Amino acid sequence: MTGIVAVLECRAVSKSFGALLALNGVDLALREGEILGIIGPNGAGKSTLFNVIAGLERPTSGTVYYRGCSMSGLPTHAVCRMGIAKTFQIPRFFPRLTVLENVLVAGLYGKGAGLREAQREAEEWLNFVGLVDKAGSPAAKLSISERRRLDLARVLATGAQVILLDENMAGLSHNEMEAAVSLVRSVRDRGKSLMVIEHVMRAIVGVADRVVVLNYGEKIAEGSPGEVMRDPAVINAYLGEAYA
Ligand SMILES: Nc1ncnc2c1ncn2[C@@H]1O[C@H](COP(=O)(O)OP(=O)(O)OP(=O)(O)O)[C@@H](O)[C@H]1O
Ligand SMILES: [Mg+2]
Repeated sequence: MTGIVAVLECRAVSKSFGALLALNGVDLALREGEILGIIGPNGAGKSTLFNVIAGLERPTSGTVYYRGCSMSGLPTHAVCRMGIAKTFQIPRFFPRLTVLENVLVAGLYGKGAGLREAQREAEEWLNFVGLVDKAGSPAAKLSISERRRLDLARVLATGAQVILLDENMAGLSHNEMEAAVSLVRSVRDRGKSLMVIEHVMRAIVGVADRVVVLNYGEKIAEGSPGEVMRDPAVINAYLGEAYA
């Protein structure tokens, strides 16, 4: 990556929980405007990687850089204000607030925007994810696919330039997934850079420019979706013989 400063870079990032090494010396870089897929078996450390990047967990060693600046020790709200926001593997929202209010809260928290600006932007993002019709409904009433889109609207409303999506397409039907894939691509078209964790290979192939594969906390492969899917180490650790 000579001459190009990555938007986000992890250098030798490790995270242990007691005796368990959830991340072991992970190096990776997210380029400007890129969609980077993160795949690997259950327990490989994917969500832990996102938690470390987002400041929810401190790395045991190693450093995360945002546009070349170390983010070591920054709490999650500071990381968010710098421009990095993530969804949770299990969507988190305020069930009794309306859909619009949920997005509004994210805008107020993430950007420290004024109420008017946050309100205008919340409506814009709801329109972008196709939830304008539900703006006044309690969030608890949303379907799975609507909750995923609410989650996306909330991270976008923070104003973050780097968006981390943790299995945001899990549990969607075929058609919903196709729609979700094009929605994620249109997020990138708005100038964002994304890291996307997904187990469904069809989603990863549809969305990712490049893929990093984790296994037992280590990066075992990196490349285009086609390259990693043909990689014997990846087939062996994750995809199984059906892909071979
Ligand atoms: N807060 C924690 N305390 C202790 N162990 C943890 C904690 N968070 C994660 N782990 C462990 O770290 C390992 C990596 O977990 P992680 O959630 O990052 O995996 P993952 O790749 O996201 O898996 P999945 O595909 O199932 O979501 C697992 O063994 C998990 O049990
Ligand atoms: Mg996970």
